[in-house]
Amino acid sequence: MLPFPLLTRAGVRFVIALVLCLPAAGCGLYAPTGGELFPDGWVFDAGQAPVVSRDGMVSSTDRYASEVGAQVLRAGGNAVDAAVAVEFALAVVNPEAGNIGGGGFLVARMVDGASVALDFREKAPLAATRDMYLDADGNLTDRSLVGHLAAGVPGTVAGMWEAHRSYGTLPWADLVQPSIDLALGVVVTERIHGSIRNMEEALSGFSASAAAFLPGGGAPERGSTWAQLDLARTLERIRDRGPDGFYLGETADLIVAEMERGGGIITHLDLESYEAAWREPVRFTYRGHEVISMPPSSSGGPTLALIANILEGYDLSNLPWHGADHVHLLAEAWRRAFADRNEYLADPDFVDMPLARMISKEYAAERRASIALERATPSAEISPGMAPVPAEGENTTHFSIVDAEGNAVAVTTTINSWYGSKVTVAGAGFLLNNEMDDFAAKPGTPNQFGLVQGENNAIEPGKRMLSAMTPTIALDPEGRLFFVTGTPGGSTIITTVFQTLSNVIDFGMSVTDAVAAPRVHHQHLPDQITIEHGGLPDAVVRELEVRGHTVVIRAVGPPDGYFTGGLSGDVQAIRIHADGRLEAFSDQRRGGAAVSPSR
Ligand code: DON
Repeated sequence: MLPFPLLTRAGVRFVIALVLCLPAAGCGLYAPTGGELFPDGWVFDAGQAPVVSRDGMVSSTDRYASEVGAQVLRAGGNAVDAAVAVEFALAVVNPEAGNIGGGGFLVARMVDGASVALDFREKAPLAATRDMYLDADGNLTDRSLVGHLAAGVPGTVAGMWEAHRSYGTLPWADLVQPSIDLALGVVVTERIHGSIRNMEEALSGFSASAAAFLPGGGAPERGSTWAQLDLARTLERIRDRGPDGFYLGETADLIVAEMERGGGIITHLDLESYEAAWREPVRFTYRGHEVISMPPSSSGGPTLALIANILEGYDLSNLPWHGADHVHLLAEAWRRAFADRNEYLADPDFVDMPLARMISKEYAAERRASIALERATPSAEISPGMAPVPAEGENTTHFSIVDAEGNAVAVTTTINSWYGSKVTVAGAGFLLNNEMDDFAAKPGTPNQFGLVQGENNAIEPGKRMLSAMTPTIALDPEGRLFFVTGTPGGSTIITTVFQTLSNVIDFGMSVTDAVAAPRVHHQHLPDQITIEHGGLPDAVVRELEVRGHTVVIRAVGPPDGYFTGGLSGDVQAIRIHADGRLEAFSDQRRGGAAVSPSR
C-alpha cells in the first residue's frame, strides 16, 4: 500500500524528489528511494552503497586487476602508473577484452589541469585493401570477424609505453610485473570460468587458443589455478625491453609466423612502424560541466558532444526519468548524432572532418530544430536510407582511476569481439583483435554492431578504424574533477556514457544508481530503440510506439556473453565530491570491482 493513496508511484517519487532536491539545481524527478526508482523486474537495486575513499580509486571489470591498480597507488604510483599496470593485468585475467593484441584510448586529466588523449588504436596492415573482406560477388564475408585476416596491428603496448614515458613515475618493470605474476598462475573465479566456457566452441577452432584457454579440453575450473606460461614469457619480454619486447624480436617473430600459418597479412614492417598518437581531447560543456573525451580515431567524444549539446536545449531534469518524453528525446538526439558520426568521422590522419562544427552548440541547435516532441522522426528522413542490421556482438573493457593527488585516467581498451579474432599467437599466448570489422568493410553495409558507416571509414593501409570508445572525464561547474567514466558495448558505448553522466547531472542520481539504472539505445540505423531486458515499463514502451518508435529488447544469452545477456555495457564510474571524497561503482553487469588503496 502506498503511503499517499491518491498518488501514483511516480507521484510519490515526485514528492520525495522535491523534498530531497529542492535546494540543489538539476535534481530532476529522481530520488534514491530503493527499489522504487527502477521498474519492477529490473535486475539491479537502486540505493546501493558505493566504494568510498579519499586516497584514490581503481574501478575495473575484474577484482584482480583493480587490486593490482590499488597496489600501484599504495606504492606511491600515480593514476597513469596504475593504468599501465591495470591494462597489463586485464590482458591476463580478462582475456575476452583486456589485451596486448588489441588497442584502445586513454583520456587523462592531471592535477595541474592538463588534459590529454592518447590514441593506441590498431591500424590496418600495410597490405590491407579496401575490398579485402568481399567475396568474388562483392558480398561481405566473415573474414573481418574471425581468423587471422581480421586483426589490425596491435597498439596497446606502444600506448602503455607512451603513457608511462610521458606521465609515469614508477619504473616500467614494476608495472608489468604484476601481470606476469598473474599469468604464472591465478585462481580461477566464477567470472573467468564463465567467460571462457561461453566461448569454448569458438576458441577450440584455433589450436593455440585451445591450448591457452581450454587446458584439459575445457574452460579452467572455478577454484583451480590457471597458468598462461607463453603469455607470461611475452610479458617478461615487454617488462625487460618495453615496446621492443613486443614489436621487435621474438614476439614479433611469433606474430608474423602466426600470420603466415593462418593467411594473415601483418608483417614485421607493420609492427616496427606502429606508433601511438597523442590527440587533442574533445572538450565541451554540458550544463556548466566541462566534459573531456576522446577525439577521432574514436567517434566517442564528438558524438557525445553533439548528443549533449542537442539535449542541453531541453530541461531533462523536469521530465520523469525514463518516462516516454525522456526516452523519446534521447532517441531523437541519438539518431541525429549517429547519422553524422557514421557519415563524417574516421581516422584524422587520413580524412578531413568537420569536427569543430560537429561539437559546436550552433550545429546542435540546427540538429535539434528538426526534433518533434510527439513524433519519432524516421531515420530515413535524417539521412538517405541505408541497409538495416544484424544482431550485435561484443567485447571491450573500461577502467577508471583517480589517485590521491587528483590525477584521473579513463581507459577503454578492446580486441573488439569477445576473444577478438579467436586467434591466439602460438608461442606468445595472447589473442589477436578483430578490429578490422570496425572499418566500413563495405560502405553502406552494417558491421557487427549494426553501424552503417560511410566512405570516410573505408579500409586503407595504415589507417585506424573508427571506434565508438568513449573514455570520459567531467569537471564540475567550478572546474574541479567531478566524474571519470567509460564502458564497453560497441555502438552503445556512446549512449551509455551519456546516460551515466546525465543520470548524475540532470537527475541527481548517486554514482551507484547512475550505473545500476537500465539503459536505452538508438543509433540512427537500425531505426529502433533498444532496451535492456526488464529495463523499461510496458506502458512506456507502448507510449513510445504510439509516437512511431520501434522498441526492441536486447537478446538474452549467448552470443552476448557471460553476465551480458539482455544487458548493455559495463560502466566503471568514479564520482569525485567537492570535499575530496571519491565514490565509485563497478557495473554489476559483468561483475567487476572498485577498489580503494586504503582498504
Ligand atoms: O572500437 C569500437 O567501437 C569497438 N571495437 C568496441 C567493441 C566493444 O565495445 C565490444 N564490447 N563490448
